[in-house]
Amino acid sequence: MYQLLIRGARVDGDLVDVAVADGRIAEIGPGIAGAAEREVQAGGRLLSPPFVEPHIHLDSTLTAGDPRPNRSGTLFEGIEIWSERKRRLTREDVISRAEELLRWQAAQGVLHVRTHVDVTDPELLALEALLELKESVGDWMDLQIVAFPQEGVSSYPGGAELLEEALRLGADVVGGIPHYEHTREMGVASVEECFRIAEKYDRPVDLHCDETDDPGSRFLEVMASEALRRDWGPRVTASHTTAFGSYDDAYAAKLMGLLTRSRIHFVANPLINITLQGRFDSYPKRRGITRVKELWQNGLNVALGSDNVMDPWYPLGTGNMLQPAHMAVHACHMTSREEVEACFSMVTRGAADALGLQDYGIVEGGSADFVLVDAPDEWEAIRRLATTTLVVKSGRVIAETSPARTSLFGESIEPAPGGAGSGG
Ligand code: FE2
Repeated sequence: MYQLLIRGARVDGDLVDVAVADGRIAEIGPGIAGAAEREVQAGGRLLSPPFVEPHIHLDSTLTAGDPRPNRSGTLFEGIEIWSERKRRLTREDVISRAEELLRWQAAQGVLHVRTHVDVTDPELLALEALLELKESVGDWMDLQIVAFPQEGVSSYPGGAELLEEALRLGADVVGGIPHYEHTREMGVASVEECFRIAEKYDRPVDLHCDETDDPGSRFLEVMASEALRRDWGPRVTASHTTAFGSYDDAYAAKLMGLLTRSRIHFVANPLINITLQGRFDSYPKRRGITRVKELWQNGLNVALGSDNVMDPWYPLGTGNMLQPAHMAVHACHMTSREEVEACFSMVTRGAADALGLQDYGIVEGGSADFVLVDAPDEWEAIRRLATTTLVVKSGRVIAETSPARTSLFGESIEPAPGGAGSGG
């Protein structure tokens, strides 16, 4: 007797059944014989590994408008507002908002989340709250915590000490923000300090890097060079790197060579990048997104994150990973079939690789973590911003959603030519 049996799901283009026993995938194939405690008719829907959130700020989430809205819409006003709001943080406040967001994400098929948490706080209050939350949600959510010095490592008084203390307390990843440091030299010093701490505590590095339209912000080359020198590429992630969208092509070509050799990961946050960047331009306005397409074409791993949901930097958002993928298709000109499929991968497999996840994917013997999406394939999932109808964690169904169905003049209709994979 299987724990769970999914009938008629699409995996890598094939229509198959997936049988689960003891929290692991026991068998994948057509027409699996046997009974199960629960059987689900997938109706040709896409069965995908879970969505992975590679970059979000759970400490600030669900605070939009408090104490005031971000009038300029810039990253910098967001940091000012957050600096005011964080003085009123309490453990309960952080835990309840962060957990609410994780519940939204789990309901939409996200089972792995990397959150940044501001550690430029002498009390490290939000960090301690999120470390506690990580334990309490561990049954259904795999949470990685990045110690993120929002107001700087070199520029904030005691910034380096607080960052190191965060690692001692149990943060999983070393963060940084070199472009925000007072001077270029302090920015370079902060990158070196982040790598020193990472090596000392044997943790990966994930820096907010060059999150600006300023083409003079060139800390990505410092990160990549440090990663290459230490042969640490696969443990290093450069988040945002929006200035890369403003570098001239001659410098970009030189930089790409270094990046390719360094093998570091990238996280772009298309919803936030297109919202926060370009604010100092009149017209033409830049898109303010890193060169996602060119990085991908050069064989580098790119993941896409939500970054902010209803906070001082972005007043919208639901934590649904198809939204950043959908925005990347548009803002990064990734509209061929192969490119749209790549954008889907950037919120699943690519994000899993950036987070260094093991035991991820739909394979016999692997852990039974997967989702059913109300679409026949990745292209349709993004085109329709399709509903995730079923979320399975370790063989247990933890979330179910009924997709909306519409009728027009009394007949059912949906924006799916040929009704491909409507699921039923
Ligand atoms: Fe961020």
